[in-house]
Amino acid sequence: MDKILILDFGSQTTQLIGRRIRELGVYTEILPGDADLGAVLPQGGESGGAVPGTAGSAAAEGFAGGIRGIILSGSPASVYDPDAPAPDRRIYACGLPLLGICYGLQKMNVDNGGEVAPLPKREYGGVKVRVLRDSTGKPGMSRPGVSGGRFNKRPGKETFTAWMSHGDTLTKLAPGFTEVGRSETGYPAVLVHREKPWYGLQFHPEVTHCERGQEILASFVFGICRCRRGWSMEAYVETMRGDLTAKVGDTPVLLLVSGGVDSTAAAALLLKTLPASRVHLMYMDTGLMRKDETTQIKAALEKLGAEHLHMVSCGDEFFAALKGLEDPEAKRKVIGDLFITIQEREVAALGLPSSYFLAQGTLYTDLIESGAGVGKKARVIKCHHNVGSPLVEAKRQEGRIIEPLDRLYKDEVRALGRLLGVEEETVRRHPFPGPGLAVRILGEVTREKCAVLREADAVFIGELKKRPVPGKRGVSLYDSIWQAFAVLLPVRSVGVAGDLRRYGWVLALRAVTSADGMTAGVYPFLARDLAEIATLITNTVKDIGRVCYDISSKPPATIEWE
Ligand code: XMP
Repeated sequence: MDKILILDFGSQTTQLIGRRIRELGVYTEILPGDADLGAVLPQGGESGGAVPGTAGSAAAEGFAGGIRGIILSGSPASVYDPDAPAPDRRIYACGLPLLGICYGLQKMNVDNGGEVAPLPKREYGGVKVRVLRDSTGKPGMSRPGVSGGRFNKRPGKETFTAWMSHGDTLTKLAPGFTEVGRSETGYPAVLVHREKPWYGLQFHPEVTHCERGQEILASFVFGICRCRRGWSMEAYVETMRGDLTAKVGDTPVLLLVSGGVDSTAAAALLLKTLPASRVHLMYMDTGLMRKDETTQIKAALEKLGAEHLHMVSCGDEFFAALKGLEDPEAKRKVIGDLFITIQEREVAALGLPSSYFLAQGTLYTDLIESGAGVGKKARVIKCHHNVGSPLVEAKRQEGRIIEPLDRLYKDEVRALGRLLGVEEETVRRHPFPGPGLAVRILGEVTREKCAVLREADAVFIGELKKRPVPGKRGVSLYDSIWQAFAVLLPVRSVGVAGDLRRYGWVLALRAVTSADGMTAGVYPFLARDLAEIATLITNTVKDIGRVCYDISSKPPATIEWE
């Protein structure tokens, strides 16, 4: 399958580059910016001919080979920093098309004899870019039909609003580079190389606020790299089925499911690939789940064809372990440790042969390290309760871990789930933390408080699913929110119910917008919606006396309260 390799120098938007190109139907892989590329690069020569994996069906080729171009990402670093991340220099000799974005461009320029210097003032946000010169004669940027056409036809007249975030600028172009676009602030913004298929953008085409950003990426991917579209969920399923069958053979597979979209999609993929008799699913009901969640999860997995569904009911153990604990970290630690203890005990009780494979719903984003860790490439495991789990680590050592979603982004997992028949309700479900309601009950967690929170949360979420976004018929508030939930505060407050004094718990509602949970904004409800939802909660959940709305963004707050 044709693919674009992205070298990650730690930019916040590296993942976005990958996602945007996959939206175009082309597979992307991200490697640490300083990765040794000896094994993956073609050995010199022109792009195209020397690139492996350019023939045959995408499914037959799988994910190996097929690199058609390389993108060098942005970075929080400056090229002259003593520990500035540097790419494997073989990229400059391999003949593949290169696209440098922001730091990536600056690094290409400096590595090839150019110079870079700090700007008097950092540029951030929308900046107009004027196209100075037609790049015809170069393959790609102006190929008609590929959408770059208009971009290049009227040099000098064409402007668009690019999205910038840089503190340095090019001050001397490396030999061969020509400036074809300049920012209205007077700095080089679009560069092409006269002889080599090298391009550079000082701005970030991957950011949705960048006008024509997707066109520019398409021009690189199709016009310059000549990629063929091979990436789709259908192709992915076909490839994964082949891989899974070859790897697993007749051995049983155990998948730990949480009920979220990731593990449910992984379950669906296993059940649609292997005989159901060989797929074991284990779910732990910690007593810290939302209303009716366990029943719904069981029904959803059975509908997908699960035969061996091990529902472990361990609420008593969790409540006993949490008794008297108030400190958030202490609560998380106890829950994490207990997860591991119960997991080992229950897995042993299944009596599977020791050769069994352990599957997890790890995503691509869980595996990639950006920012500070560039180049160290530590493998991050998704759920907090699996971090350092001896069972997972032992299986990893044996090479018996299966992570069938580890090449997918969250939105792709949703598409995969739909394709494999996972119910819409599950596909659209908001993220839910491993420690469950325990981190949404501040202070000590008790069964009684869990019951109160569960009811209040169900009313909130039920209303979000019923209420449309103002002006957008058919789109519910729930679907336009990244994550919403209720939090029970360890505070009671005085109120009045009829003629009686009421002394009820205070509930906080949280609803955030986000792309990946790393940063989050407050969902801008209409005051009327919030007031009506609050009234409904205090009218139907008798222990709740007062409702507040959390208006904190992340950072500085986190999404969960503990
Ligand atoms: P925070 O609260 O750190 O959360 O802003 C970011 C996202 O991660 C989820 N979250 C967790 N998910 N295990 C998980 O699987 C956890 O321990 C955990 N803690 C937070 C949170 O719900 C949000 O989507």
